[in-house]
Amino acid sequence: MITKVELKNWRSHLESKFEFSPGTNILLGKIGSGKSSVLDAICFAFFGTFPNLQTKKIKLDDVIMRKPVEKNKAEVEIHFQVDGKNYSVKRIIEKGKGTSYSEVREDGKLLEAPNTQRVTEIVEEILKVDYELFSKAIYSEQNALDYFLTIPKGQRMKKIDELLAIDKFEKARASSVSLANKIEDRMHGIEDAIKQIDEEELKKNISELEDSIKKLTLEKESLEKEFEKVYEERRILEKELQDLKKIEENLEILKMEKRGEESALEEIMKAIRLIEETTKGFSKESLQTSLKELENDIEKLEEELKQKKESYEKLFSDISQAKSKINFLKEEKISKLEQSLNEKIGIKKEIENLLSITGENIDQQIKEKKEEIEKVNSEISSINTTIKDLNSFIQHLSSSENKCPVCESVLTPERKNFLIKQKQDQLKKLEDKLGNLIMSRQNLTEILNKLENSAKSISEMYLQIKDLQEVQKELENSEKVLVELNSFIMQAEKNFAIVKSDLEQLEKQIKEEENKKRKYEILLIQFEDLEEKKKRSEELKLRIEEIKKKIEEEELKLKGKDLAKMEEILKQIISKESEIKTKLQSYGSFIQEKELRKKENEEKLKDLEKQKKEIKRLEVLVRDLKIFSLALEETQVELRRDFVEAVNYAMNKLWNTLYPYQDFVSIRLNAEEGDYILQLQGRDGTWVNVEGNVSGGERSIACLALRIAFALALAPQLRILVLDEPTANLDAKAISELTLTLRERINEFIDQTFLITHQPELEDAATGSIYMLEREKEKDEPTRVVKVD
Ligand SMILES: Nc1ncnc2c1ncn2[C@@H]1O[C@H](COP(=O)(O)OP(=O)(O)OP(=O)(O)O)[C@@H](O)[C@H]1O
Ligand SMILES: [Mg+2]
Repeated sequence: MITKVELKNWRSHLESKFEFSPGTNILLGKIGSGKSSVLDAICFAFFGTFPNLQTKKIKLDDVIMRKPVEKNKAEVEIHFQVDGKNYSVKRIIEKGKGTSYSEVREDGKLLEAPNTQRVTEIVEEILKVDYELFSKAIYSEQNALDYFLTIPKGQRMKKIDELLAIDKFEKARASSVSLANKIEDRMHGIEDAIKQIDEEELKKNISELEDSIKKLTLEKESLEKEFEKVYEERRILEKELQDLKKIEENLEILKMEKRGEESALEEIMKAIRLIEETTKGFSKESLQTSLKELENDIEKLEEELKQKKESYEKLFSDISQAKSKINFLKEEKISKLEQSLNEKIGIKKEIENLLSITGENIDQQIKEKKEEIEKVNSEISSINTTIKDLNSFIQHLSSSENKCPVCESVLTPERKNFLIKQKQDQLKKLEDKLGNLIMSRQNLTEILNKLENSAKSISEMYLQIKDLQEVQKELENSEKVLVELNSFIMQAEKNFAIVKSDLEQLEKQIKEEENKKRKYEILLIQFEDLEEKKKRSEELKLRIEEIKKKIEEEELKLKGKDLAKMEEILKQIISKESEIKTKLQSYGSFIQEKELRKKENEEKLKDLEKQKKEIKRLEVLVRDLKIFSLALEETQVELRRDFVEAVNYAMNKLWNTLYPYQDFVSIRLNAEEGDYILQLQGRDGTWVNVEGNVSGGERSIACLALRIAFALALAPQLRILVLDEPTANLDAKAISELTLTLRERINEFIDQTFLITHQPELEDAATGSIYMLEREKEKDEPTRVVKVD
C-alpha cells in the first residue's frame, strides 16, 4: 500500500504532498491540473522510469519544472508498506545529468544509495513486480484501459507470454527442437555413410586375407630353412678357399725368400774371392806384429816432434820479444833521451849567454845596488825636511809684520824681501837636487829589478839542467843494449831455420809411417771381414736348405686341389643364396601388404561399429530432446490455461458488479487459434467477441474487468490498481455503477485503488483520500493540492 507521495519541482508541482490510505483514493482536477504527473511520479519513484519516458515521448529533463520558475533539480519520494514493513524510495533528477541520486529505506534504515539500478532492483524484490508488470498490469496509462484490445490480433498471446515469462519456455523449446533436428540430420548423415559400407564383404575380405597370410608365412618359413642350408655351404667353402689361398701366398713368399738368399750367397762368395786375392802373401799374425812395431816408432817420432816444436816455439817467442824490445828502444826510449839531452844543452848555453852579460858576481851587484838606493833615500828625506823648513820660514816672513820670525827683531821691507828672495833661491837649488836624486833612485831601482830577474831565471835554468850527465849516460847505455839485441836476433834466426827444417823432416817421416800403419790396419780388417763372410755363407746355405724343405711341405698341402674349380662352385652357391634372399624379401613384402590390408579392413569394421553405436546414442538424445520440448510445450499450455482460468475467474466474479445490465451475462478470455480473444456471453448463451460487436461503454466495462483481473492474476501480492480517466465512453448509469463498484465492491479484490478523474460525480467512489488539484493553466501556475475531507 502506498501511504505517502511527495513531489518537488516535478512538472507543474512545485512542492506537493499526498497521503493515501487503503481503499479508493481520488485525484480530482481539471484538464492539465497535474493529476497524471502524480502517477508518473509514483511509477518513477518505484522503477526509475514511466511509460512516456520509456517510449521516449519525453526526456527526463522534461519533468523538471520549467514554468513558472525554471528549476535544475526535481525530487520524488514515496512511502509504502509491504508485509507490515514501511519502505521509502527517493530519487533526484538533475538537469543534464539524469537521475543523480536514488535511495531505498526499510523502516527508516538505508538499504541502498545512491546507485539507481541497485535501488530499482531492491524495490523490485520488495514489490515482487518489475516495471513491465507494473506498467501493464497495474498502471494503465490515461485512456488506455483498452490497452489489451489494442494489441494487434495474433500478438496478444505473445505479449501475455512475455508478461508471464512463458516466452522463456518457448525459447527453450524452440532451441531444443532445433537441436533435435540438427542431431537427426547428423544421424541421417551417419546412416547414409554406413549404407555405403558392405559389412559382409569386409568380413569376407578379412578372412580371405588371413588365409593367404597363413599360406605365405608357411612358404616363407620353408624358404628360410633352405636359405640357412645354402648359407652354411657357402660359409664352409669360403673358409676352405681362403685357407688354400693363404697357403699359395705363403708358398710364393717362401720362393721369393729362397731366391733372395741364393743371390745373397752368390754375392758373398764373390766378395770372399776378392778379399783372398788382396790379402795374398800376408798373414794375420805377421801383420799384427808389424803394426805394433810401427806404432812404437810413431810414438817415438811424435815425442821427438813434440820437443822440436817446443824449442821452435821458444825461439820464435824469444825473437819476437827481442824485436819488440828493439822497437821500444828505438822509437820510445832513445829518441826521448836524445830530445831531452838536446834541450838541456840549449839551456846550458843560454845560462852562459846571460852570465856573459851580467858578469859572474850577480849577487854582489844586487847587494851594492840596494845599498846605493838606501843612501839616495836618506839624502832625499833630509832635503825634504830642509824644504819644509824653508817653506814655513818664507810663509811666516811674508805674512808677519816686519819682524824677524826667529829673533823677533824689526825688519825693513827691503830686508824682508831680500830674506824671502834669498830663501827662495835656496829652496830652488834644493828642489833641483831633489829632482836629480829621485831620478837616480829610479834608475837604480830599474837596474836592481833587472838583476833580480836575471838571478831568478838563471837559478831556474840550473835546476832544469841538474840531471844532464845522467841523461847522457842513460842514452849511451840504451844504445849499447840495442847493439846487443841486434846480434842476439841474428843468432836466434839462424837456429830457428835449422829447427824448422828438422820439424818438417820429422812430420814427413811420421806421415809415411802412419800411411803404412793404415794399410796394415785395412788388411787386418779385411782378414776379419773374410772370416765373417765365410761364417755368413755357411748360415745362408743352411737357411736355403730349410726353405727348400718348407716349400716341399706347402706344395704337398696344395696337391690335388683345383682352386679355380672351387671358385666356380662358390659363385654358383652365392647366386643361389641371393636368389632365395630376393624371394624371401618379396614374400615379406607380400605378407606385410596383406597384413596392412587386413588391418585397414579391420579398422573399417571397427569404425562401422563405432558409427552404429553413435547412431544409437543420437537416437536416445533425439528422443529425450523431443520429450523435453513436448514437456516445455505442455508447460506453456498449462501456464496459459492457469492464467486464463485465473483471469476468467476474477472477471466473472467482477462482471455482475461492474456491468449492471442484463444483455451480457458473462465474460471470458478465450484462447483460440493461438490467440486470446475477449468475449461476452449473451442471454441466449452465445459468446460474442468484444472487439467490433459491443457498444463503447460495454467495451470499457469489459476492459476494466479485464484490467482488474490482470492485476489480480499477475500481481496478486500487490493488490493495487491505478485508473487514469477510466470513464471515457461510459454513460451516466455506468458511471454511477463504477462509482458504486469502486466504493463498495472492489475492496473484495483490491486493497488500494488510485482513481484519476475530472468528473466530480466520481468523488462518491472514494473510501480513502480525495485530493483536488487546482491550477490556472493559462497563467502557467504551479499545481495547488487541496485535500478534501
Ligand atoms: N516541466 C514542466 N514544467 C511546468 N509545467 C509542466 C511541465 N511539464 C508539463 N507541464 C504541464 O503540467 C500540466 C500537467 O499535466 P498532467 O498531464 O499532469 O495534467 P492532467 O491533470 O493529467 O491533465 P488531463 O486531465 O488533461 O490529463 C500540463 O498542463 C503541462 O503543460
Ligand atoms: Mg491526465
